[in-house]
Amino acid sequence: MSPQQSVAAVVVLAAGQGTRMRSTTPKVLHELGGRSMLGHVLAATAPLAAGTTLVVVGSGREAVEEHLAAVAPDARAVVQEEQRGSGHAAQVALEAVPDLEGPVLVVNGDSPLLTTGTLAALVAAHHEAGSVFTVLTAEVGDPTGLGRIVRGEDGAPRAIVEEKDATAQQRAIREVNAGVYVANAATLRRVLAGLSTDNAQGEQYLTDALAPLVEGGAPVAAVAAQDPVDVLGCNDQRELAARRRTLNDRVLDALMVAGVTVVDPATTWVDVTASVLPGARLLPGVQLHGTTTVAAGAAVGPDTTLTDCTVGEGATVVRTHATGAEIGPGAAVGPFSYLRPGTRLAARSKVGAFVETKNAVVGEGSKVPHLSYVGDATIGRGANIGAATVFVNYDGVAKHHTTIGDAVRVGSDTMLVAPVTVGDGAYTAAGSVITQDVPPGAMGVARAKQRNVAGWVGRRRPGSAAAQAAAAATAAAAEDPAGSRPAGDAPDRPADPEATHEQ
Ligand code: UD1
Ligand code: CA
Repeated sequence: MSPQQSVAAVVVLAAGQGTRMRSTTPKVLHELGGRSMLGHVLAATAPLAAGTTLVVVGSGREAVEEHLAAVAPDARAVVQEEQRGSGHAAQVALEAVPDLEGPVLVVNGDSPLLTTGTLAALVAAHHEAGSVFTVLTAEVGDPTGLGRIVRGEDGAPRAIVEEKDATAQQRAIREVNAGVYVANAATLRRVLAGLSTDNAQGEQYLTDALAPLVEGGAPVAAVAAQDPVDVLGCNDQRELAARRRTLNDRVLDALMVAGVTVVDPATTWVDVTASVLPGARLLPGVQLHGTTTVAAGAAVGPDTTLTDCTVGEGATVVRTHATGAEIGPGAAVGPFSYLRPGTRLAARSKVGAFVETKNAVVGEGSKVPHLSYVGDATIGRGANIGAATVFVNYDGVAKHHTTIGDAVRVGSDTMLVAPVTVGDGAYTAAGSVITQDVPPGAMGVARAKQRNVAGWVGRRRPGSAAAQAAAAATAAAAEDPAGSRPAGDAPDRPADPEATHEQ
């Protein structure tokens, strides 16, 4: 930021109760687009590089302070013990920095759509006008509930009047106070000290700072925001939803301008903290949260929620719910997959339908195609995990690890009871409960031998459809002994049935 856009301090007002939210969560901690309202305001003010950032806290103070320490450790919380109005809040902030001089940016904490550009323009206008108090304004279609900017015949600002205190004529004004101000610290201190509570809400309004300055002949300014949408506040749940929608539209617009395909913007939600590279495709019903990144050529969706995930180039992620997963280039996930933290899918690997993974590395080209749980596991390259395999990682006390080598074929319905290792190139027989290591190249078989009780159905379920079908098959076999299997006897199966299940 140039000196013309710089301020000595930023003060964010965030102590209000937010009664209209009707929520136990403090208003400024409500989330939209992957950040709290307060987080958005701080992100917008951060590039101004003010030496000091103060956040006035009060209602829900512990939660707000804790959040602040996490998202903006350099900002300082100042406590407003009683919520006596926005003017009082600003006064409390300035008392915390008695030596501060120069221009101060004061911002309502409930303006999540503010941009750095809008703030910088306001600061620049303040400097340019040689003003001691500059208020950001906006022309809006519906000014209900907002402070009105009253201008004199010469067009110069005279006062800010809160709706509850406004005359019918003033209520017709559509230029409103955005709740963003730049003021000279000394001037602001002086004028705030003189504020009364003689108004409809019995509060000290920050907005009342303007009129006495005008009366005293001090240079003030009221500057309209380029984009009135920027300044929209957020006082109740309906406004929160509307701001979230607007923020999301902005994020998607920027992605599309950059070359991301968004098939259905109405059902696609991308946090401001997520990134999607040009050439990626987002199908309907996608939500990308947190630090999620999607590489070029990847296709995500439909109906997929990714939180703190990375999706590599050319990967496909279909109807999936994933958190903290790395999805490698060319990997295929879904439909109906659940990837939990610590999942790392290497290049061209596959995790298919009804598969859950957690703390699991799936090696290059390896596949877990169907109906499996892979927890606390390392799978080598080119392995195939048969359908309905379970990595039995938990003995009720501790979690244990399973290691699967390269080019292993785990038979369908294998239980891998950890800790256990299946060596490179080994197989397991379908239906096995593997409790001991399988050496490289061996076939691990761990299941009971099959026994057929001949004629059981005819004796124990006489007259049933099964018995009739069995009788018909037996009669047909008797007539044509060569054309059909002998009824009742299982054919000889090899001892090492190849029973992995692969597409
Ligand atoms: C305020 C402005 C209004 C403006 C609107 C823009 C005042 C009196 N009115 O109205 O002119 O059009 O914002 O959105 O300022 N706060 C404190 N301590 C308090 C009271 C409030 O920190 O004792 C904080 C709130 O957390 C909030 C901000 O000040 O971030 C504004 O308070 P709020 O009650 O939301 O004012 P509005 O009625 O929206
Ligand atoms: Ca407000």
